[in-house]
Amino acid sequence: MTDPTPAVRDRVLSLSSAELPAYVYDLAALRAHAAAVRAALPERVEVYYAAKANPEPEILGALGPYVDGYEVSSGGELAHVAKAVPGRPLAFGGPGKTPDEVRAALELGVDRFHVESGYELRMLAELARTCAPGRRVAVLVRVNLPVADGSLAGSSLAMGGRPTPFGLDPVQAVEAVRALADGTYPHLELRGIHAHLASGLQAAEQLAVAESVVSWATGLGVPLAEVNVGGGMTVDYTAPDRRFDWAAYGNGLARLTQAHPGLTLRIEPGRALTAYCGWYATEVLDVKHSHGEEFAVVRGGTHHLRTPATKGHDQPCTVLKVDAWPHPWPRSSAEDDRREMGVPPAEGWGKVTVAGQLCTPKDVLARQVPAPGLRAGDRVVFSLAGAYAWNISHHEFLMHPRPGFHFLHHSTGGL
Ligand SMILES: Cc1ncc(COP(=O)(O)O)c(C=O)c1O
Repeated sequence: MTDPTPAVRDRVLSLSSAELPAYVYDLAALRAHAAAVRAALPERVEVYYAAKANPEPEILGALGPYVDGYEVSSGGELAHVAKAVPGRPLAFGGPGKTPDEVRAALELGVDRFHVESGYELRMLAELARTCAPGRRVAVLVRVNLPVADGSLAGSSLAMGGRPTPFGLDPVQAVEAVRALADGTYPHLELRGIHAHLASGLQAAEQLAVAESVVSWATGLGVPLAEVNVGGGMTVDYTAPDRRFDWAAYGNGLARLTQAHPGLTLRIEPGRALTAYCGWYATEVLDVKHSHGEEFAVVRGGTHHLRTPATKGHDQPCTVLKVDAWPHPWPRSSAEDDRREMGVPPAEGWGKVTVAGQLCTPKDVLARQVPAPGLRAGDRVVFSLAGAYAWNISHHEFLMHPRPGFHFLHHSTGGL
């Protein structure tokens, strides 16, 4: 479903033009979604929310009852998440951790470090010795594992099984595991293996990845308490109703946990948890005809919602028609523009490319949106804007005003 929930729709229609664009998050729907995801997973699977998908404090808080912890990938995220959800377990991952970030994480008492290289392991060992004396710091070794041919075929962002800056190659990972297990680093405790190999995978592909990682980890012959098989559950922007099959994934993970009693599995999804709870709502400023096509220019654009530009898709959206028009000049519409230009009717009209206010042809939010009769003053609400949306966008470009943010705690619709 791409339509806004009733609560979101009401809020969008209640906002004045000056209050748009706006991000509107349905936290009640998010809680219901997270609860359903949690219920689909077996007990011995922990969920850490990857905060990079959407670190808004309200989002982190709403997810609280349904997750076991949070994955952070920078010193900034670490400080932010620790403040937003104090006392919750944190796993610190990501490449290129600086000594200052590691020190800060040790001082905060971060629960787990995902080690990305041999160098990082040696740095962490020394900093743990000096900054966290008397404590053994829990470590998961991140491995860049080749997986069975075709397993990552559907991935939009493959990070494993090929040359990348992420994790250790299997040979080096084995060395790191052995060094940790044989006490080379007395201030570190080998807790397990971490792997995040790709994003955008369906349940069957995710399971194949999880099986490969668990089989590799348990084959090392070293006692391990945990295997983190990463995030990357797909969100299909071209077919928003086609959801990641959490039930099938949960069943598969249940089989894996049964096969490995004593092993805790962990997943760290971001996008598939929060994408559906957020909408970017805006107003049509102008509608025009250009060389045979219709364009709507809306307040805001990809400097607020960069997702369609980065992923190369059309952001799903809903048009809300607005009757009121407060200005003394007439509303613009593609039809009027065409009439003025003397362009005869043609097939395919009524499909609109929705562009933002930036001076670049790349500022396109969605193409070929069926919106016959669209006029200035109508509203467009983009769905699937709850993850990798505002927080990955280039806000300062052209100095347009920032959007408003609305967090709806009570709603009447599900995701
Ligand atoms: C290490 C790690 N874990 C988890 C995630 C979350 O991935 P997604 O939002 O696709 O579930 C990412 C995303 O890049 C990641 O790099």
